[in-house]
Amino acid sequence: MKQATIGIIGTGNISSIYLEAPQKFPNLTIGAVADIDLARAQAQATKYGVAKACTVADLLADPAIELVINLTVPAAHAPVALQVLEAGKHVYNEKPLAIEREDAQRMLALAAEKGLRIGCAPDTFLGGGLQTCIKLIEEGAIGTPVGATAFMMYSGPESWHPNPDFFYQRGAGPMFDMGPYYLTALIAALGPVRRVTASARITRAERMITSQPQHGTMINVTTPTFISGVMDFASGPVGTIITSFDIHHGGLPNLQIYGTEGTLMLPDPNTFGGPVRLWNTATPEVREIELSHEYSDNSRGIGVADMVEAIQTGRPHRASGELAYHVLDLMHAFHDASREDRHVTMQWSCARPAALPSGWVPEA
Ligand SMILES: NC(=O)c1ccc[n+]([C@@H]2O[C@H](COP(=O)([O-])OP(=O)(O)OC[C@H]3O[C@@H](n4cnc5c(N)ncnc54)[C@H](O)[C@@H]3O)[C@@H](O)[C@H]2O)c1
Repeated sequence: MKQATIGIIGTGNISSIYLEAPQKFPNLTIGAVADIDLARAQAQATKYGVAKACTVADLLADPAIELVINLTVPAAHAPVALQVLEAGKHVYNEKPLAIEREDAQRMLALAAEKGLRIGCAPDTFLGGGLQTCIKLIEEGAIGTPVGATAFMMYSGPESWHPNPDFFYQRGAGPMFDMGPYYLTALIAALGPVRRVTASARITRAERMITSQPQHGTMINVTTPTFISGVMDFASGPVGTIITSFDIHHGGLPNLQIYGTEGTLMLPDPNTFGGPVRLWNTATPEVREIELSHEYSDNSRGIGVADMVEAIQTGRPHRASGELAYHVLDLMHAFHDASREDRHVTMQWSCARPAALPSGWVPEA
């Protein structure tokens, strides 16, 4: 096994945790960083000891870079990924894979044509918390899964995010912003979804920014802010998901999976750790279960480390483009179902990603 030389395009907020990933994952080394704002790339390179900060074109022309982590804004995810693939390199996108299905399909087709891989966040489902849950389900701790609930409800990002306008436009909203964590976790646990239906609404056509520096500026809302969806998993269970930016006070659990013999209370799927709690007929009380897997702190980059090992050993990688496409397709399908008054049967599926062996560390 050898270390893979990685390039990062997009050196904004989330880039810091990826720049720390080689400390945790010995099969990764960061060879170069790029951003349309070159000064930002230079600052991150200096801070994290990366040898090269350059333009996107220079990074793509560098033959040493084998795989690019694409941490640009959602609207640039597809165009940047297509450039990376054209340059003959594997690509790993932050979520969502793309905004439009057609762009994501173009990416998958180009990767297949060129014999390259696409990976995509979130990789929180590879963390110790959710992998412990997946192991429990596989061991039969709740019997046969019959249903699941996923709730992501709060009052919206305009109170804390410095530039919250984009959260209320197409390709964002609560479903596209947070849905990937919940849907990816559910698919990792229960497999792909066969059909969905939903109801969605825009609650307020305008919202006021209350964070700085744009306090008092109004946002025009063009995407639903309350989406209530139902999904039939191909393996049988029925799932319910609510994502909303309209809720002042909630209290429903993030994620639960119900089986014929018990209930699994999963951790927040936007985190890597626990708690994992279980109730089953054998022990009819709620117990906190010790995590069976590593990586329970912020381990963003684990999906890239797994992808690198998978490329080198010729096995499928877990945080795959196919999985992320299914998630993107589902998020659109919830909106389509509501607008069109119907169930939407999914035209695309994906394999359930293999569980991580406990104690897994990438070979280097
Ligand atoms: N910040 C978070 O907590 C967080 C968490 C999870 C996922 N994400 C995802 O990560 C991605 C980046 O988020 P962020 O918070 O770091 O955003 P950000 O706005 O802080 O950074 C994005 C960076 O990408 C650069 N950029 C934009 N278009 C580009 C292009 N075409 N070519 C090169 N550089 C380009 C920008 O100049 C900026 O430096 C988003 O997709 C977001 O959904 C962010």
